[in-house]
Amino acid sequence: MCGIVGVVGSPNAASILLEGLKRLEYRGYDSAGMVIMTPDGQQLVKEKGKIVNLEAALNWDELKGTCGIAHTRWATHGAPNQINAHPHVSGKVALVHNGIIENQKALKIQLTNKGHEFVSQTDTEVLAHLIEDFYDGDLVKAVQLALGVVDGAFGIAVTHLDEPDLIIGARRGSPLVVGVGEGVNYLASDVAAMMGHTRQVIYLDDGEMVTLRPEGIHTTTIDNEEITKEIQEITWDLDQIQKGGYEHFMLKEIFEQPQTIRDSFRGRILPGTGDVKLGGIELTDWELRNIRRIIILACGTSWHAGLVGEYLLEEYAHIPVEVEYASEFRYRSPIIEPGTLCLVISQSGETIDTLEAMREAKRKGAKVLGITNTVGSTIARESECGVYIHAGPEIGVASTKAFTSQVTILALMAILFGRRTHLSADRGTQMLQELVKLPDLVQKVLDQSDAIKQIAEVYAGHKNCLYLGRGVNFPIALEGALKLKEISYIHAEGYPAAEMKHGPIALIDPDMPVVVIATKDGSYDKIVGNVQEVRARDGKIISIVTEGDTEIAALSDHVITIPETMNFWTPLLSVIPLQLFAYHIAVIRGEDVDQPRNLAKAVTVE
Ligand code: G6P
Repeated sequence: MCGIVGVVGSPNAASILLEGLKRLEYRGYDSAGMVIMTPDGQQLVKEKGKIVNLEAALNWDELKGTCGIAHTRWATHGAPNQINAHPHVSGKVALVHNGIIENQKALKIQLTNKGHEFVSQTDTEVLAHLIEDFYDGDLVKAVQLALGVVDGAFGIAVTHLDEPDLIIGARRGSPLVVGVGEGVNYLASDVAAMMGHTRQVIYLDDGEMVTLRPEGIHTTTIDNEEITKEIQEITWDLDQIQKGGYEHFMLKEIFEQPQTIRDSFRGRILPGTGDVKLGGIELTDWELRNIRRIIILACGTSWHAGLVGEYLLEEYAHIPVEVEYASEFRYRSPIIEPGTLCLVISQSGETIDTLEAMREAKRKGAKVLGITNTVGSTIARESECGVYIHAGPEIGVASTKAFTSQVTILALMAILFGRRTHLSADRGTQMLQELVKLPDLVQKVLDQSDAIKQIAEVYAGHKNCLYLGRGVNFPIALEGALKLKEISYIHAEGYPAAEMKHGPIALIDPDMPVVVIATKDGSYDKIVGNVQEVRARDGKIISIVTEGDTEIAALSDHVITIPETMNFWTPLLSVIPLQLFAYHIAVIRGEDVDQPRNLAKAVTVE
């Protein structure tokens, strides 16, 4: 988390930094700040809260300089207040930092003994002092020496007033990307910050550092070995990260799903063979046939997509699948046998727990395949092979379109793996024919947004909500509950419907809305029973049913229909009303939908 942006060589440095911060606000938004090198010294501005607060505090006349760094924060060490906001300054050194310095306590004692005085509770300030302590006229050397003694994760940008045309960036664990311009160069934790200024970028890898001056860029390792980095071209546009007339990014992203699902399967279906081609999967047919076990590693919504993938892969590829929280996987002794494939799912491609779990899996000999949305992200680069979901930039903190694209890719994978073994061409063809219809069916669900808003109005004031689903729609119950929690702060839980009687049923009363995903499938009769159990206890029932259903509809207080499709494709439809339900409730409650409290889009701390 935390967003970093830096620019050198532009007379509009402060406004470029502010614009960049606004694009990075999804990474953290509890405080923000910037520092500009000016002829009158380094001008530092920091404010608690969102970027608008920082913007209001800027005195543009004082910020006339061509070089500066800025930061939007998601607090780890120290409360989210003005003092703890970045940049942190020690003498003429200024620093912004994403990550955690683990040995900061010991370093702070040493520096205090040498006379350094600290004003904040942050680990970042310790690093700023450490760099100043090592400085003897050469900032590059001071940064290298300082980073040589810190433990932990970092993406940093550093300036020094005596070298006012220089920014140094370095990374270990937190993303940094360099934007290459003409006479102006940029540094940021995400390319979004520099869109509109340059499309030429260099992704730094762990252990690397960069010096940016107006006239050029120089990359080395932190140990000062020369390295040559490839310049890459960004292919997406600025309007893809703007709201396009919607009130919130989240709503825009929910409504983009017919298109993003289509983009995920476009060009990957082989007509006439019932087969699929995923260019990034660099496995031979022999290797695909010899996958004995799949472990899916992910966090949050991506973990829920992985759970859907478990149902799809076991059903159609007949491969045993385990879905692991990445954070748990990395700290136990996972058993990786020959033939184990790890699917690593991450929208951002930067989630630190997922990244570290992937590294652990690689270390133990697993074949690792990344499923990410963010081109050039660390997981995309470090996985041996992978598939991009092509959902386009997702800005809303609560993930929506990335989820449906992840599930689409997992559906394609189930067919790909299945077709290498027992799945027939006819069956593959039929599944793909149903898959390509989904974008239009998703649109039909989106068309019910106003009706879903009316249901949301009834329940916006409730304190709890239970979500039930069975089979492949059980993960959708989890995802629906997560969406509601994340943006409306209503306590919500997802359960397999049959588990309700083992605990949650005790909670059912007239104040407990229960959202039931009850599409027509093999367990339909069982879920009718579960709905009756809720009704018998006066719980309120909101059901998601297949078009034409009358039985569950008759038992429900509110009904939302989804069009008929293959049972295993229903999650791509049933999740849509739950996204809309959570969205409308949050808006009615007046919550900040795109930037919910305490959350961040890319969680790059453990
Ligand atoms: C954060 C976000 C979630 C996301 C999770 C995993 O918690 O707020 O929306 O699902 O991280 O992120 P990833 O980028 O790895 O999919």
